[in-house]
Amino acid sequence: MTTQELDQRARDVLDKNDHGGYTVPREKLYPFQWNWDSCLVALGFSTYNEARAWQELETLFSGQWDNGMVPHIVFHREKTSTYCPGPAHWQAKNEQGEDTSGISNPPIAAHVIRQLLEEAKDKDLAREKAQSLFPKVFRWHKWWHDKRDPQGKGLVVSYHPWETGRDNSHDWRQLLAEVPLDKLEPYERKDIEFVPADERPNQKEYDAFMALVQLGRKCDYDDDYLYEHSPFKVADTTVNFILARADRDLLWVANQLGKDRYSDEITALEGWIPKTRAALVRLWNKEEESYQPISFANGYDNRHVGGTSSAAFLAFLPGCDNDKKAHALLAKLEHWSATHLLVPSYDPHHEDYDALRYWKGPVWAIMNYMIYKGLRTSGHHRAGLQLAADTAALMESGGFAEYYNPDNGDPLGGNQFSWTAAMWLYWLSPMRDELRANYPHRWEALSAR
Ligand code: GLC
Repeated sequence: MTTQELDQRARDVLDKNDHGGYTVPREKLYPFQWNWDSCLVALGFSTYNEARAWQELETLFSGQWDNGMVPHIVFHREKTSTYCPGPAHWQAKNEQGEDTSGISNPPIAAHVIRQLLEEAKDKDLAREKAQSLFPKVFRWHKWWHDKRDPQGKGLVVSYHPWETGRDNSHDWRQLLAEVPLDKLEPYERKDIEFVPADERPNQKEYDAFMALVQLGRKCDYDDDYLYEHSPFKVADTTVNFILARADRDLLWVANQLGKDRYSDEITALEGWIPKTRAALVRLWNKEEESYQPISFANGYDNRHVGGTSSAAFLAFLPGCDNDKKAHALLAKLEHWSATHLLVPSYDPHHEDYDALRYWKGPVWAIMNYMIYKGLRTSGHHRAGLQLAADTAALMESGGFAEYYNPDNGDPLGGNQFSWTAAMWLYWLSPMRDELRANYPHRWEALSAR
């Protein structure tokens, strides 16, 4: 297929999933607006319709709560019963009466706004939109730093695996097993009507997800209450590395828009950035030579949980704090690539690695984009190119799937998936020839399938 044909297919996916101003990740399976999906989808739109890209962010921020939190789902009064938990389970309206979920998502919006502003063809539109979004994004970051780091540790916490975006990662195994299920209300899973059950979280995990939703709902998503009582209280790698990068990108945006106009915000950002940088060091697990989440839940003594997931490599996004660690991570990536397509969401040599099951092994294109971005900005071009080549080859052979099997490249989960198509358009399509020229073997092996 030519690059133009692939681009057209990717645009078709976005247009098909467009519900008029916002994009659903995948019809039926995820039939509402998802937070970090939409941010990354905006990058895809920017390649052919800049106004539509900005609109995607505006509709997302219409779900923002008064306290600054931007929910991980905005329901937009959609009437559909193909997803659980819906509004009745969350019971989490924002002040404008919009039904939303009660948790947030990795804060990638500021990074996206920076990219859109920097690369805009329509600079006037970009400045106008960035001006109107800036105060909202800033309030979101402030919420993270104030409300999710109430003791000023420099690391923000999450109370639900869905907030980290890596729902059933092996990282959460022990924590999810400890979530009390005795008061679990009945619910009906919908996801496995659309995707084979062995590609989705298992039943016990889903029960714990629902019990954590119930806990949040019962205290009206009170951050202080949850900080004291949630059995799931983690400083996650995805969330913290992305926030660290996003703070810098937001600072860049503020400086572009007007140093004087945003002097208070600039001062706040200049305070958060070094504090977070110093604290991220704590996510490093010396024994395993990788970054891993920490549990702040009672009884954990701020211990690391889980093992090495693809989120460890997001450390390159804000920049690794020293060269030794960067080399250890690069060596791991190299080692994984000898036997697997990059980047498995979980250590493919770990005993619980599962090539099919969601965040326990499969490759996710959006993680690859963010890892790539980090590698490039940290000067590790070659490592970045290889994972870009693998991602492009996966899409070319398997379509724009939700995730892919790292052992054999099979597409998994939902097909015609919005953020995967967006990553093709924004990231990989412009590099296709370069990737094929540099990695012909890896490329041909898959695309010949
Ligand atoms: C799954 C993913 C999450 C994503 C959502 C919508 O829950 O784990 O990261 O945002 O689907 O695509």
